[in-house]
Amino acid sequence: MNAVDIINKTKRKIQLAEDEIKYLVNGYTSGEIPDYQMSAWLMAVCLNGLTEEETVALTLAMRDSGDILDLSCIEKITVDKHSTGGVGDKTSMIIGPAAAACGVAVPKMSGRGLGHTGGTIDKLESIRGYRVDVVFDEFADIVNKTGFSIISQSGQLCPADKKIYALRNSTGTVDSIPLICASIMSKKLALNADCLLLDVKWGSGAFMKTPEDAQRLGTLMEKVGKAAGKKCRAIVTDMNTPLGCCIGNSLEIKEAVELLQGKVKGRLYDICIELTANMLELAGKGTIEECTAMAVDAIASGRALDIFRETVKLQGGDSRICNDVELLPQAKYSHIIYAPRDVEIISVNAEELGMASLILGAGRISKDEDIDYAAGIVLEFEIGDKISMDAPLMTLYSDSVSDFSEAALRAYNAIGFRTLTNSALT
Ligand code: URA
Repeated sequence: MNAVDIINKTKRKIQLAEDEIKYLVNGYTSGEIPDYQMSAWLMAVCLNGLTEEETVALTLAMRDSGDILDLSCIEKITVDKHSTGGVGDKTSMIIGPAAAACGVAVPKMSGRGLGHTGGTIDKLESIRGYRVDVVFDEFADIVNKTGFSIISQSGQLCPADKKIYALRNSTGTVDSIPLICASIMSKKLALNADCLLLDVKWGSGAFMKTPEDAQRLGTLMEKVGKAAGKKCRAIVTDMNTPLGCCIGNSLEIKEAVELLQGKVKGRLYDICIELTANMLELAGKGTIEECTAMAVDAIASGRALDIFRETVKLQGGDSRICNDVELLPQAKYSHIIYAPRDVEIISVNAEELGMASLILGAGRISKDEDIDYAAGIVLEFEIGDKISMDAPLMTLYSDSVSDFSEAALRAYNAIGFRTLTNSALT
């Protein structure tokens, strides 16, 4: 077997055998197959795709390149949720405690943000003292005590994905449905929860730009999950506009806590209920209607907030933020953008707002950069709102950047307006 033959087969759309895919993944991970050969194969996959069988084989070879967690020490049925990433997505901090409050265990490993999308681990690190690098035994212990924990992904999980993803980023081979599927699913299958809910986003703030592509990715991930013996479901959700009104690390924790306090409704709340209900139904807790009612009650009763508070405390974080969100990091500088005339908001470009937030310091372009936990954007509107001239549209925050001109222009240009006559406002 050799890498050139394998590259040629994919180039000619000849299906690879399972052992050829294993040879490629293992050879690349160990360093025997060089970057240039792996890059050529990845580009052939981008152009010609892979069959379902090949995608399953690739995912399992990547999963098997490192540790596979043994979650048998967790007493309850385990449910994991993965979102394919977006802007303002703070759902993990809400649905984890909400599902745990309904009797399932949610052991989650998450990543840091890169580019315009934020990472759950960065958001949690904005809580002073919160430890994301908890060892496995303590992680399992916290999940057994509270039902929920989020830590950063262990370096021993999926070393193949780590190496291949870095190569894809520098060779223009990220946007391939089978490669995205294998990358996400190998990590999820290595975490090894009993059930897996996949929230596949589409829109300007997401990897998948159309609902059709998101559905294609979701269906493929479901098939791979089921082939690996998991209870697995994908749902497709809209990421054309940010989820909720806050973008940025501590601002998103604030919004998540306020939702758990029962103060936030709207699209973010509705999606959290839908995701939680699906996690519960996958875990066999009832029909989707019963699980929806359970999810609503978990938040309304304050039980989900109690679980979040307890988990934050056990992970060393300042759990007082669950009662007083003002204890989260606050930015030194702020800048309000006002409506230029009487307008109706007709669109919001989530990706552009994510970029504006990154310029303010909330994100990073390369993976070792520091981030500003207090930086970000708070939107004062929802799509369809009518705003009068000189009323605030959004507030930009930063602890590290005092000149707001670049971020403000980008954020302003992300909003689509329709000009109103005065009478249309009333
Ligand atoms: N997230 C991943 O982990 N991998 C991809 O390829 C895309 C998104």
